[in-house]
Amino acid sequence: MMLAISRIATGAILLAISLTSSVFAVASHAPPATLTVKNNHPLIYYHGRWDSDVGTWWPGSGFKIKVKNLKSLTLNLGPKTPYPFNTLGVSIGDSEFFPINGSAGANTIPLPASLAKASRDQGTTVRINAAGWQTYRMQLDNITLNSDALLVPYTPSKTVFQIIGDSFSSGYLMPFGADQSWPFLVGEAFKAEHRITAQAGAALTDIVSYGNAHGLSYQFFKTEDTGYYYTTDHNYTTPWNFARDQPPPTHVVIHIGANDAAQGVSNDQFVQVYSDFLVRIRKLYPHQPIFMFTPWGWPSSDGNVYYYYQGLYQQILDARVATGDKNIFLVDTTGWITWDDVFPDSLHPTVAGQAKVANNFLAFLKDWGMVPPPA
Ligand SMILES: *[C@@H]1O[C@H](CO)[C@@H](O)[C@H](O)[C@H]1NC(C)=O
Ligand SMILES: *[C@@H]1O[C@H](CO)[C@@H](O)[C@H](O)[C@H]1NC(C)=O
Ligand SMILES: *[C@@H]1O[C@H](CO)[C@@H](O)[C@H](O)[C@H]1NC(C)=O
Repeated sequence: MMLAISRIATGAILLAISLTSSVFAVASHAPPATLTVKNNHPLIYYHGRWDSDVGTWWPGSGFKIKVKNLKSLTLNLGPKTPYPFNTLGVSIGDSEFFPINGSAGANTIPLPASLAKASRDQGTTVRINAAGWQTYRMQLDNITLNSDALLVPYTPSKTVFQIIGDSFSSGYLMPFGADQSWPFLVGEAFKAEHRITAQAGAALTDIVSYGNAHGLSYQFFKTEDTGYYYTTDHNYTTPWNFARDQPPPTHVVIHIGANDAAQGVSNDQFVQVYSDFLVRIRKLYPHQPIFMFTPWGWPSSDGNVYYYYQGLYQQILDARVATGDKNIFLVDTTGWITWDDVFPDSLHPTVAGQAKVANNFLAFLKDWGMVPPPA
């Protein structure tokens, strides 16, 4: 009885306040309550490489969450996110990835209008990754959602690509960076997880190359990409704990050698370095098929394409097969990229060129026996 009376009394007070609403206008403008998801929340699925400050390195590293009743989303990034911003790719509920400029502090993510109609009850998958083509850093502090949103487990795909490469695979020169690279497009076609460990300008051989302090045969095993060297707030590199790659890769793809050739690494040296690298890769990935791309070469305005290390990839592969490793395949990319597919001043594939590589590799995989799920 007392309780009921006090409720009525409270109601009367609230009514009185609302009647004098002009005086108490601030109450109706109070920010809505939100749900904060901290970066250590177990239902954040991290992919790619993240350091102990919850900061990303390497193309397309990011996270995925699944949210029921999603109505608002703010990404709160930490101070190690590049200033003034880095390009992040965002996909909401299986939408195409779209870019946002992610800055330290609060970033409101626009939700597609279609989401309002879609059944929010099923849960909406949100995917966010560091896509900018020169640096792949963002530091996740927390995510704020509408207060009645509910985080549910994101189930990773059973297909997981691990791609190892250089500027041809890192999203170099793409307006939306890694999200327009062929590795990413192939992953999307399979609704797969993709981990892209590719570094523009880097050789496979552990030498200084185009500003990279190390080659991929060293840096692949590290958390940070070679950008650490120029980073004042994190000027060091640490071993990557491969046990964090969950689920482990199911398919490994390697496309490398352009910068070794450019730096004058001899044929013999290259064969040795690549073969040694494969031994280490095979230890990490004992059962996975490994796909070795041959170079697609440097197209020229005269219609020629200039290839490098011709025949060596086959030689490296044959030597591995001779050791009893039958689960390794050559992807002959000869003719995939022509003058029309590249930026004339850098000879790197354009957006359409990257898509062409993706389609060629998808066709290769289909012949090999791997067919994407229906779109
Ligand atoms: C969320 O992140 C922002 C931006 O870094 C920070 O200012 C805020 O204190 C964080 N909130 C919580 C609850 O951790
Ligand atoms: C990001 O910032 C750049 C440079 O200020 C601007 O041109 C671009 O439109 C911005 N992109 C988005 C998605 O806001
Ligand atoms: C990072 O450290 C290296 C030495 O390991 C040094 O040569 C380089 O100048 C440093 N870079 C920055 C940005 O501090």
